[in-house]
Amino acid sequence: MTPLLPGRGATTLLLHGCQPPQYQRVLGVLAAIVFTPLAASLPNGLAATPAMGYSSWNDCGSMRNNGPNGWCWDTEAHIQNVTEYFISSGLTKLGYVRINIDEGWLKGRDNATGNMMEDFGKFPSGMKGMGDWIKQHDTYAGSGEKMHYGLYSCRGTVQCGSKTYSAVGSYGHEAADVDWMVAAGADYLKIDSCGATNYSHAGSFAQYAKFRDAMNATGKQVWFSLCGWHHWYSNPDPSIGYKGGASLGNSWRIAGDGQTWTDLTQCMNTQAEVASFNGPGGWSDPDLLVGPEVYIGGQTDEQARAQFTMWSLFPANLLISQNVLAWTPYALETYSNEELVAINQDPLGSPAKRIVGGDLEFPCGGGGGQIAAPCNSSNVWGRQLSGGKFALGFVNNAGSAAKITCDGSCFDALNISSSVAALKVRDLWAHADVATLTRPFTFTAAVNGSGFAAAYKLTPSSL
Ligand code: GLA
Repeated sequence: MTPLLPGRGATTLLLHGCQPPQYQRVLGVLAAIVFTPLAASLPNGLAATPAMGYSSWNDCGSMRNNGPNGWCWDTEAHIQNVTEYFISSGLTKLGYVRINIDEGWLKGRDNATGNMMEDFGKFPSGMKGMGDWIKQHDTYAGSGEKMHYGLYSCRGTVQCGSKTYSAVGSYGHEAADVDWMVAAGADYLKIDSCGATNYSHAGSFAQYAKFRDAMNATGKQVWFSLCGWHHWYSNPDPSIGYKGGASLGNSWRIAGDGQTWTDLTQCMNTQAEVASFNGPGGWSDPDLLVGPEVYIGGQTDEQARAQFTMWSLFPANLLISQNVLAWTPYALETYSNEELVAINQDPLGSPAKRIVGGDLEFPCGGGGGQIAAPCNSSNVWGRQLSGGKFALGFVNNAGSAAKITCDGSCFDALNISSSVAALKVRDLWAHADVATLTRPFTFTAAVNGSGFAAAYKLTPSSL
């Protein structure tokens, strides 16, 4: 068992408007120490911690499919309602301040100018109007921070939904399209890979580098969200001069779309492979936070809670992608778990490592078309936190509740100083201190089945 790797560590930290206030204060102090004038390059001063907010993808799909009675039919109004809900529900106060529009806003290209052309049927105010409307809102009353706006394009010749509408991609228009979207007010750009002319490592990196360079050339801080669906965006590859995910973007998708708990289980398995390449400045992206109220995909509220638990621990972007206007109080409670958000936004940015259990499967070990037992149904993940603390996460994909143990060798992987005699254990869903462990450390969590997760914070105590 190898010890936990710390994150890569930030080379530049810059205070920016996308973190909850408590983290801004910490980052502000760090920024005052290490800040150099705004560097128009990566590191671009963003992504000290993962992004938080909303994405329209699983909520609305490509905004053309869900019919006149679908909630995204009147897309601009829907996004306005979603933004207002994020603010009024308190989600923005927790840090969910980015409203990202995924595929579906682009209608085509102006033949005369070659410029991107938005779909005024969906967005009567245009994409600049949409962005201006979002960004005129304070994240919450008195915060002094405005909401953030994200847009989407593809590095290929067409966008992913090209079968349902005739959208074009940004291939050959990289710099002009970045300029267009940044001029529309976006400070977060997701660039997908559909219709790409090159899917090799080197070719993909080179195409994405054009977008990165174009974003840098704007002189603005733009969060670059790569969407290339491959783990090899994470690690440096000297054979082709690739310096790793954080040299290219602020977050990079590592797997295919996570639309259900089965897919998201695979995303977790990939995250386990690449975790050590994460750290302040750049994060691997195991995909959006999906729930039951979606147009694309879907999983139960309980699985959504398990996903949020693990994504908080990894830490990964927390981009809620379901119809928050129709969701349950349970769902709001899930994403409002302040203690888990604090783990996600922990300033140390040390990635969680899978300590116990191999690649998970789902559904695992029950009837009804499930993978027959024995299958791999449980994991323990662990990480360091700032202030000498630690966190543990337990996942159970078996058909029924199980007891999952972090034993002595599991605790060894946390690299806890030998001077720590005892650990106070806090259940981050019960919001209660549940045990004090003494050496030799071992802890067992009882976790419900079919896609549940539990998380605990460990604080050294003197007893
Ligand atoms: C791909 C991406 C998704 C989403 C869709 C849009 O599948 O991986 O996240 O952006 O395209 O069609």
